[in-house]
Amino acid sequence: MSNTVTPYQSSDGKKEQVAEMFDNIAPKYDFLNQLLSLGIHKGWRKKSVKLLIPFDPKFILDVATGTGDFAIEANKRLNPTKIIGVDISEGMMKFGREKLKKLKLDSKIELKLGDSENLPFSDNSFDAITVGFGVRNFETLEKGMAGMFRVLKPGGIVVILEFSRPRKFPIKQFYNFYFNHVTPFIGKLFSKDNRAYTYLPESVNAFPDGDTFLAIMKKTGFSDPTWQPLSFGIASIYTGRKPQ
Ligand SMILES: C[S@@+](CC[C@H](N)C(=O)[O-])C[C@H]1O[C@@H](n2cnc3c(N)ncnc32)[C@H](O)[C@@H]1O
Repeated sequence: MSNTVTPYQSSDGKKEQVAEMFDNIAPKYDFLNQLLSLGIHKGWRKKSVKLLIPFDPKFILDVATGTGDFAIEANKRLNPTKIIGVDISEGMMKFGREKLKKLKLDSKIELKLGDSENLPFSDNSFDAITVGFGVRNFETLEKGMAGMFRVLKPGGIVVILEFSRPRKFPIKQFYNFYFNHVTPFIGKLFSKDNRAYTYLPESVNAFPDGDTFLAIMKKTGFSDPTWQPLSFGIASIYTGRKPQ
């Protein structure tokens, strides 16, 4: 079920290629996120984090943290004791750390190098785990999911925000045009990486979204998996619990 779409045609594995791609686009990542999503991505993160409010998590892990936006949003709404963000791209986290320093959040939110498939934490460490637009990029989706399950405390919750494919006319047609033509054109223009914003729609198309992803969550061990489409299905929020 893992997707095999990679950013570049090189002999490196997907993980190395993904890290290289995000290192390349890191200086323009926040700007392009804002431009290409017309700011909608902020509302999606807000909605995802709000689902955690009833759980009042104190120790949160933000996997695939990138420039830290999900972690920053989680801190704002949940005021936990500590958030650790992990990512395989040092380039992305460099910009994240600068942002955290400016916001004076650098002691509360710590960003460290870490791979979802081999997380540097003990079993049952976190009350909640968040992942924003990360799972689609994992080299082996099932391994990344299992890694997160392992470090989540029993009773803990995972919230995953990811792009999905709208299925209905005319959103599907508009989305296909925008994602396959407009996004790669603008992305290439600003990011100076020819492949990154072509890889984006390719990786979304290859991602097992909706019910298929819920089945993967269940297989990993997560209980009560839920799925909520956002903005006509352009993105989706998935949640799951680690049984007590
Ligand atoms: C699209 S960015 C998302 C960043 C951030 N979460 C956000 O909401 O803007 C995806 C991030 O996933 C990271 N990533 C990909 N595979 C990963 C893995 N196996 N473990 C940790 N991070 C990973 C990439 O390096 C990249 O920074």
